[in-house]
Amino acid sequence: MKFFIDTADVAEIKEVNAMGLLDGVTTNPSLVAKTGRKFKDVLLEICDIVKGPVSAEVTSTDYAGMLKEAHEFAALRTNIVIKVPLIPEGLKVVKTLTGEGIKTNVTLCFSPTQALLAAKAGATYISPFVGRIDDIADAGMDLVAKICKIYRNYGYTTEVLVASVRGPMHVVEAAELGAHVVTCPFGVLKQLTQHPLTDIGLAKFLKDWEKVPK
Ligand code: G3P
Repeated sequence: MKFFIDTADVAEIKEVNAMGLLDGVTTNPSLVAKTGRKFKDVLLEICDIVKGPVSAEVTSTDYAGMLKEAHEFAALRTNIVIKVPLIPEGLKVVKTLTGEGIKTNVTLCFSPTQALLAAKAGATYISPFVGRIDDIADAGMDLVAKICKIYRNYGYTTEVLVASVRGPMHVVEAAELGAHVVTCPFGVLKQLTQHPLTDIGLAKFLKDWEKVPK
């Protein structure tokens, strides 16, 4: 399973990249707004660090506007993936970009039918938002299970990118279901490294090491 980080914070990206964990990056307008920086500057800096796919989201909602933004982003770096909202105009954009050989990440997916449409349009990635579904007392991972099954049934090559991840169990369940990618906030990626028995064991080893004659 590929690990992406869901952030526009360059310091977080550098730290996770140094651990050898990073296969790619996803950003969105809310994450970029948190940085207080211009998107193009952030995007170029991220692409200098990460050679894998970096998702850049369009903010227009009409076909022509989305396509213009997509072409501007795609011209910046070859590893930029265009993040497009799952709306009818967005599907048209995905079809066009796919025809041009430009990769897409279809975002804000909340149903299996939406995922099916994205695959038919030729999306490179589909992003089901599991945490936001859990937030409204439904089961986000059930959506991932359905999408994985549907894509397998018909041999779609669109990769399932589990997004809106809230904790380690989302990562475990995504891996069990065979999702291709999980994109995690920095905090969740750090949680994945932690176990209390590791900390207890390390403390004991270090304490015992003090007794060893030097
Ligand atoms: O990047 C899209 C998605 O991961 C957003 O997550 O936490 O805002 O629901 P969240």
